[in-house]
Amino acid sequence: MKPKHFVEVSSTVLPPASAEPPSGVDPTAFLGFDHIEIYTDSAKQSAYFLSHAFGFNPVAYRGPETGWQDSASIILKQADVMIMLTCPLKPDSTIAKQISKHGFAARDVAFRVSNTEWCFQEVVKRGATPVAPPTEWRDCNGTIVHASIRTYGDTIHSFVDRSRYTGPFWPGFAEYGKVFPGETVIPEVGISGIDHVVGNVELGKMNEWVSFYERVLGFSQITHFTDKEISTEYSALMSKVMKGGGGKIKLPINEPAEGKRKSQIEEFLQYNGGAGVQHIALSTNNIIATIKALRERGVRFLYVPKTYYEEVPTRIGFIKEDLSVIQNLGILVDRDDDGYLLQIFTKNLEDRPTLFLEIIQREGSQGFGVGNFKALFEAIERDQAERGNL
Ligand code: FE2
Repeated sequence: MKPKHFVEVSSTVLPPASAEPPSGVDPTAFLGFDHIEIYTDSAKQSAYFLSHAFGFNPVAYRGPETGWQDSASIILKQADVMIMLTCPLKPDSTIAKQISKHGFAARDVAFRVSNTEWCFQEVVKRGATPVAPPTEWRDCNGTIVHASIRTYGDTIHSFVDRSRYTGPFWPGFAEYGKVFPGETVIPEVGISGIDHVVGNVELGKMNEWVSFYERVLGFSQITHFTDKEISTEYSALMSKVMKGGGGKIKLPINEPAEGKRKSQIEEFLQYNGGAGVQHIALSTNNIIATIKALRERGVRFLYVPKTYYEEVPTRIGFIKEDLSVIQNLGILVDRDDDGYLLQIFTKNLEDRPTLFLEIIQREGSQGFGVGNFKALFEAIERDQAERGNL
């Protein structure tokens, strides 16, 4: 018997694209982030946490109730941000193995494209390792063409063309409220988009990945932070920021550098079982309202010492926000030639010291808060010391 909310879905692996993109069309002209998929032990419990704490609402679902027996996925949405939470249903599944290795971790940083086949064909030609070939997925709401390739660790990049799809997320997904009616709508907190996604890679591997993003995905390097700029008494790291899609996608890549004690990147690599996504930065247009709402809901952030704020007026100059409110909320401030930015970092989302979130408001600055790195890293190190890992 078919389950009550069965969704008829079909898929076809497309033959290798015969047509080249028309001349002048860049096959890697990414339209932006599409979604981020996180593997979790329980999509249900993770969705409850992320929606009640961070103001996301579940919009789509795929699982046994819709006729999908391999895994269960819940799509959370807030403005332009879509987070896909996927959990295994059976102990021997490959997803279960990934979770046992990495814990609650980002599996897929998916990009939106205008033509999946052209993009996939081009990046594979340039040396990308395929994970899934271009496949057309269909249901009563239209068609999505999807493909994916490998990046650092067990992370992948999917390419998604959703221009011919009108459903809640993806063919095979049902509207969440139809499968699970009567759930409370969670008030949003003003999160408006994905600003950047940071990867931590092994010692000596940063430049290899920088070259991969340049050569294969057509990204360019916008910034470089040396271990001199990003160091504390105990640890140091190096970082290069890659951008693609005309700046809509920003991907900083960190690697550990030699410090007196164990670098926070090394701690991440050890607990994550290798390279992976360290943090996802979510943008807001009103960080004060967003952080007030998050703090009321019990979200915990990295502690910023009082002394940090003593230097802010001289280091940053005028900002339109009330500095005492910024200080009470523990928000960090940085400035560069183009303007300033306000940012704050959550504690790790699970028990392993791995994935965390950043909330960022940009007032002109296109930087990443290098002026805050020292204060931030000292805060991370206090937590690291509490875990006995420093
Ligand atoms: Fe960041």
